[in-house]
Amino acid sequence: MTATEAIPLAQPVIGGREEQLMLEVLRSGRLSLGPFLGEFERAFAAHIGVPHASAVSSGTAGLHLALRAVGVSDGDEVITTPLSFVASANVAVYERARPVFADIDPVTLNLDPAAAAAAVTERTTALLPVHLFGYPADLTAFEKLGLPIVEDACEALGAVDADGIPVGARGHPAVFGFYANKQLTTGEGGMITTSDAAMKERLDSERNQGRAPNMDWLDHDRLGFNYRLSDLACALGLAQLERLDDMLAGRAGVAAAYAEALGEIEGLQLPCPETGRVRRGWFVYVVQLPAGFDRDGVVRALAERAIPSKPYFPAVHLMSYYREQFGHRDGEFPVCEDVAARSIALPFFPEMTEGQVDRVAESLRAVLGR
Ligand SMILES: Cc1ncc(COP(=O)(O)O)c(C=O)c1O
Repeated sequence: MTATEAIPLAQPVIGGREEQLMLEVLRSGRLSLGPFLGEFERAFAAHIGVPHASAVSSGTAGLHLALRAVGVSDGDEVITTPLSFVASANVAVYERARPVFADIDPVTLNLDPAAAAAAVTERTTALLPVHLFGYPADLTAFEKLGLPIVEDACEALGAVDADGIPVGARGHPAVFGFYANKQLTTGEGGMITTSDAAMKERLDSERNQGRAPNMDWLDHDRLGFNYRLSDLACALGLAQLERLDDMLAGRAGVAAAYAEALGEIEGLQLPCPETGRVRRGWFVYVVQLPAGFDRDGVVRALAERAIPSKPYFPAVHLMSYYREQFGHRDGEFPVCEDVAARSIALPFFPEMTEGQVDRVAESLRAVLGR
């Protein structure tokens, strides 16, 4: 790679195995609801170490079904974090529930359990913590609140929590996302893990228009959606699962190279280190700029040096829709707002070379003048 070649922000690892399994599906003629669906679900559940998994068409679809499955409906409140991708709040709105935000922990950047506890009312029916940027949320603390939990694990495949339990294996519905930038991709897709067999049955039915689990034709005994994941996508996912450990190791290696290359830039805040038994499922590499820098200006200056980067994430409660619908305003969640204003995602993917990491680091150092 020469100095002028563009570095992508994210890049999946796709090889011969993916082609082989997808061709198998094409040749079988069973492009959806075929054998690869169950195969992918069973392999994924076994990988996480949880009894059940249900494949769905996206992480968002999975979060929607999981919220319904724990009983969220009209007029309820769901406590979640304002520092996330917008989908984790939107899914509550789909059920005419209110997403209630609480501030984040300044170190892990995840929903702060004490702030969440303070936000509980008699209308709270669920907690929706997000394992942001692959760093496990404090589930032990959330479980103490005694409310149903839906884990947004869309960014956290490969993460292990403080109790040494893989994210997705605690038994609450946990939702993974397989969009193209994720640790494992099916292009679009998602997976819900659960320890509850009855919940798995409900999820499988609701993703398939409410059809009975035995697939009796047109016996739609409940409201459902078309949230199915095609067999083509499942075959891609199965092939990706076979190489998951290598891809996760690749991401962890790139993160270590970044930590080394960026560690000396004064005032730049790197992702928090793993403590105790915690392992981050590396998804993105997000840094917080020193106070006083124009974040968007830094993104533009990096782009001029052919380094793509992205503000990551803007605070959800300050997005126009949330301001207008729910009356949110600046200053409500100061920790989140400070982090959101200073954070950018740098190029990050398993096969990123040390040379590419160094180029990003040198460019950032030059742009920051440090
Ligand atoms: C934290 C979080 N929640 C939810 C989603 C939604 O997943 P999807 O894009 O697969 O619908 C994403 C992903 O993009 C995410 O990062």
